[in-house]
Amino acid sequence: LTSERYRVRRLPFSRLSPQDVAFFQRLLPGRALTEPAALEPCNVDWLRSVRGCSTLLLKPQTTAEVSQVLRYCSERNLAVNPQGGNTGLVGGSVPVFDEIILSTVLMNRIISFDTVSGILVCQAGCILERLNEYLEQQGFIMPLDLGAKGSCHIGGNVATNAGGLRLLRYGSLRGTVLGLEVVLADGTVLDCLASLRKDNTGYDLKQLFIGSEGTLGVITAVSILCPQKPKAVNLAFLGCQNFSQVLETFTTCRAMLGEILSAYEFMDEKCMELVEKHLKLSCPVRDSHFYVLIETSGSNSTHDEEKLNSFLEQAMTSGLVTDGTVATDDKKIKMLWSLRERITEALTHDGCVYKYDISLPVGKLYDLVTDMRARLGQSAKNVVGYGHLGDGNLHLNITAESYSHSLLDAIEPFVYEWTARYNGSISAEHGLGFKKKQFIQYSKPSEAIFLMQRFKAMLDPKGILNPYKTLPSSS
Ligand code: FAD
Ligand code: MLT
Ligand code: ZN
Repeated sequence: LTSERYRVRRLPFSRLSPQDVAFFQRLLPGRALTEPAALEPCNVDWLRSVRGCSTLLLKPQTTAEVSQVLRYCSERNLAVNPQGGNTGLVGGSVPVFDEIILSTVLMNRIISFDTVSGILVCQAGCILERLNEYLEQQGFIMPLDLGAKGSCHIGGNVATNAGGLRLLRYGSLRGTVLGLEVVLADGTVLDCLASLRKDNTGYDLKQLFIGSEGTLGVITAVSILCPQKPKAVNLAFLGCQNFSQVLETFTTCRAMLGEILSAYEFMDEKCMELVEKHLKLSCPVRDSHFYVLIETSGSNSTHDEEKLNSFLEQAMTSGLVTDGTVATDDKKIKMLWSLRERITEALTHDGCVYKYDISLPVGKLYDLVTDMRARLGQSAKNVVGYGHLGDGNLHLNITAESYSHSLLDAIEPFVYEWTARYNGSISAEHGLGFKKKQFIQYSKPSEAIFLMQRFKAMLDPKGILNPYKTLPSSS
């Protein structure tokens, strides 16, 4: 399926020999696996839409081991697929052919945490949710949060420059990541694991690896700035009747909630139908065409509640919002968040999912969903829109009973052309991976793509790191 659907040919890397396997088994005793049962979950992506056929899974524990693995692979011209929690949504996390899977699953050690600065240093395989739990005990939190938190690794988050639900408040990983340790394709260890807020000594090399999707180096450790755990968190789940009201509610809440606003997410009624139908969740507010989820995080619950209440009063009396509910306790907060966070999961129960992750000027955000719905008519099962409205990021998803070339042809390149017309991005937060790499030119000029290819050639001259991903193939 992979090669037929994506029309890709295996590049002339070496084939894994019994001598290679013996080398890795000596280097990583009990952690160089060839059993099909161990490889199966690592060969297929979370969406179950891309499948490779790797026959070797490596689980290093240390940076030195990663370095020895890559030095050997580079000398032998063996291709490698770095893998974290395998929750990526663009097919970047699994091999396309027989690339060796290099998993960070056993690199899960917290190295240090400074309670004064809030700087955490840890290995790349730490699971995001575990890190957050560890930090909460010290009065801090991770600066990012996403639906895949229970499985994704911090290294994978950095490699994809994951955005998520808190970006509006704490900014992107490009700001919060202070340092990285990376092993380059030839095994060189690049120690840029600084724990400094300010460091203008030369080029900021770590930025090159943030969002590089495993194509430029293997991230082995991360230094990241973590905010204090907010003392008061409030959530409002509101219904709006049209998208203009969603936008106006955003403007109003930004003005009235100011510094305590920590998330502004939206979902349309189709999303609500799917989480209700497939996950048996129930909508806490009256039927609406759109729902918004507004989170505040602050240090004074009385002050925050007062602000939220006067915002809600304003939104209700002006008719922007037709119904709503508010949560301050953990249980209800989690329940409301799950309506939004679990849309991805609900979609997978609806059939074959065509996923698009688009940045657009916020006023145009939902027009793409409406246009796509009209264009596809009955040929799609559902066309839904949700996302990080506060960041101008739309998740447009289309479902169908099964995969079809003709439906894909009706969606692409239309969706990319539409996005390019409004100077949007065809990959706001998920990356290009395997599925989107041929469309990079809709969001980047040829000069930028050429420069990216030169960086790739310089850092990985044999092209062994995550081949077939991120950059377009030349043929
Ligand atoms: P993987 O999926 O294993 O890998 C992703 C990419 O990073 C691959 O190209 C891989 O080769 C590379 N990689 C992984 N680890 C390393 C490493 N140590 N060094 C170098 N390269 C590496 N994404 C968002 O941005 N925002 C969201 O809100 C969001 N929500 C999600 C919700 C759900 C339910 C799911 C399933 C996914 C969601 N994602 C989201 C996508 C995904 O979780 C993120 O891309 C995440 O950052 C991937 O982390 P991972 O450890 O699973 O990486
Ligand atoms: C989200 O915001 O829910 C994630 O990015 C996952 C998705 O796009 O489905
Ligand atoms: Zn998202």
